[in-house]
Amino acid sequence: MRDLGAAIAKKQAMNTASESKPLAGKIALVTGATRGIGQAIAFGYAKAGAHIIAVGRTQGGLEALDDQIFAETGAHASLVPLDLMDGDGIDRLGLALYERYKRLDLLVGAAGYLGGLTPVAHIDPKPFDRVIGINLTANYRLIRAMDPLLRESEAGRLIFLSSGVARNPRAFWGPYAAAKAGLEAMIACYGDEMANTPVRACLVNPGPMRTQMRKVAFPGEDPMTLPAPEEIVPLMLDLARPDQDPPAGVVAFKDWQAGA
Ligand SMILES: NC(=O)c1ccc[n+]([C@@H]2O[C@H](COP(=O)([O-])OP(=O)(O)OC[C@H]3O[C@@H](n4cnc5c(N)ncnc54)[C@H](OP(=O)(O)O)[C@@H]3O)[C@@H](O)[C@H]2O)c1
Repeated sequence: MRDLGAAIAKKQAMNTASESKPLAGKIALVTGATRGIGQAIAFGYAKAGAHIIAVGRTQGGLEALDDQIFAETGAHASLVPLDLMDGDGIDRLGLALYERYKRLDLLVGAAGYLGGLTPVAHIDPKPFDRVIGINLTANYRLIRAMDPLLRESEAGRLIFLSSGVARNPRAFWGPYAAAKAGLEAMIACYGDEMANTPVRACLVNPGPMRTQMRKVAFPGEDPMTLPAPEEIVPLMLDLARPDQDPPAGVVAFKDWQAGA
């Protein structure tokens, strides 16, 4: 009888641990992990038990994330200082992950670049290419490099951050809106290609959030009127679940919050 009680207590403890660490044992690559929404997601996934491969250019931002993760979990993240315009660098990262882990469970594409807000006819080719490069081409390169690893996971999940302007374009947002619209189309195609595998891909529109990108786009706005990036973490945990498919289309954070 005492053995049965101990077994039940052990099972309950294991259940509690898996509820508080739903991503235990998972390997998660997060781009844009040096600040803003990507950093909040990386920290949230680490707290949920995942090992984080954190990608971004700013060494200080990567180290600050690692300090935060270590203080909270006692584990370190893998820090990858990488410019996402470097497609070959993304390929090398895929190879390194294959050699080290043989699989990838979660890929979150949160890196983004707004570029200047300019009339389409006035945009120089270089900044145009950069906005498309970071918001669209880099995500294609990530998929290309990581797809074989995601297929090795029992339930590979890709989650990319889009924007409302992909579907509601407005003046001066040309390259960014085009890149995000392209991203949405590309992820829908890739998701369709994955239908007969355990890999699932989805898109999230975070809406206005209190980050550097939003501040650049709307300098006169009071940031404290906007949600903090951490608020999106429960949605991102939901979308990472291996036991359910993410919704088709773009998940809007504000609809998810409202329970729609
Ligand atoms: N904040 C909002 O209101 C809002 C609304 C709609 C959609 N979004 C989307 O949400 C995502 C996160 O945005 P955020 O607001 O958190 O932006 P943010 O604060 O400006 O952060 C952008 C992140 O992208 C990384 N990044 C930019 N260029 C890069 C490059 N060439 N190579 C590698 N990493 C690069 C930055 O890292 P480094 O500079 O260190 O490289 C940084 O970690 C983006 O995809 C954005 O389009 C945001």
